Amino acid sequence: MRPTSSDARFDFTGSTVLVTGAASGIGEATARALSKAGAAVGIGDIATDAAQAIVSAIAAEGGKAIALPFDVRDADATENAVATLEAAFGPITGLVTAAGLSRPSPAESMDEATWDLVVDTNLKGMFLSCQSAGRRMLAHGRGAIVNIASVNSLGGSAGRANYCSSKFGITGLTDVLAIEWGRRGIRVNAVAPNGVDTPLVRKGIPPRYLEDVLVNRTPLGRMAQPEEIAAVVLFLLSDSASYVTGALVPVDGGLCAGYYTNRQGADLGSNALLSAGVYAE
Ligand SMILES: NC(=O)c1ccc[n+]([C@@H]2O[C@H](COP(=O)([O-])OP(=O)(O)OC[C@H]3O[C@@H](n4cnc5c(N)ncnc54)[C@H](O)[C@@H]3O)[C@@H](O)[C@H]2O)c1
Repeated sequence: MRPTSSDARFDFTGSTVLVTGAASGIGEATARALSKAGAAVGIGDIATDAAQAIVSAIAAEGGKAIALPFDVRDADATENAVATLEAAFGPITGLVTAAGLSRPSPAESMDEATWDLVVDTNLKGMFLSCQSAGRRMLAHGRGAIVNIASVNSLGGSAGRANYCSSKFGITGLTDVLAIEWGRRGIRVNAVAPNGVDTPLVRKGIPPRYLEDVLVNRTPLGRMAQPEEIAAVVLFLLSDSASYVTGALVPVDGGLCAGYYTNRQGADLGSNALLSAGVYAE
């Protein structure tokens, strides 16, 4: 069964959560799910109009949200956004870092600006958000952070030297923050989605690739809906995950469960090899 919202499972009443990249895709789904579960939400995004539209949609549903237009690569702007959120709704208790982008290019011809844009947004920007929110959570003595990583935090993809490097970096960042801040009341985790049906994926990946490679090799046989990532993010933010920190949780339809998974693992070639005794060593 596919969840359509996460509101019934967790109660975030009284929580104040900043979601970066909340104007679209995974961030938007997470912000909406948090709002339905009772949280006051900061809609952080570089896309000002889109962020405001999400705030209006949440307000129309009776939720509390504020638009925080800022570039996650800018330390001062990030600091201001967190301060504005706290002034509006009280001490920050949660952070979800979903701002990110992809600019594919063969490694040998990737220009420096393309490398910098992706690594600065996905990794440095995430660090700055964690640092600004984390300082305040440390002062309050509690908080939870969920970083949006990727299956590309666990394995490479051609054309994505910048993206995969940033996503591998997120696992190191998450681990270090979990270690530094755990005993001071802050949990820090990451989720690793496979292909999620969002504007980023639809813009960047041709439909044939989505079908022939991504869906073909995913045991659950489909892309995720953004709400299915949000559901795991809400779990990790919630007290139900009170003993979970430093984890990278795959939300990948089983992609990382194995390598020989042509046709969702129903590859008759494997069965033919089996009956020929190939695995009988
Ligand atoms: N969609 C997928 O299949 C998928 C899979 C694995 C991981 N992810 C990761 O999830 C995260 C969100 O991706 P998505 O698919 O929801 O993408 P999306 O494009 O739908 O949303 C990303 C949001 O980030 C914002 N953003 C970009 N640069 C920013 C900046 N400098 N400052 C502030 N905001 C900025 C964009 O305006 C946008 O609203 C990314 O880190 C992405 O790498 C996505």
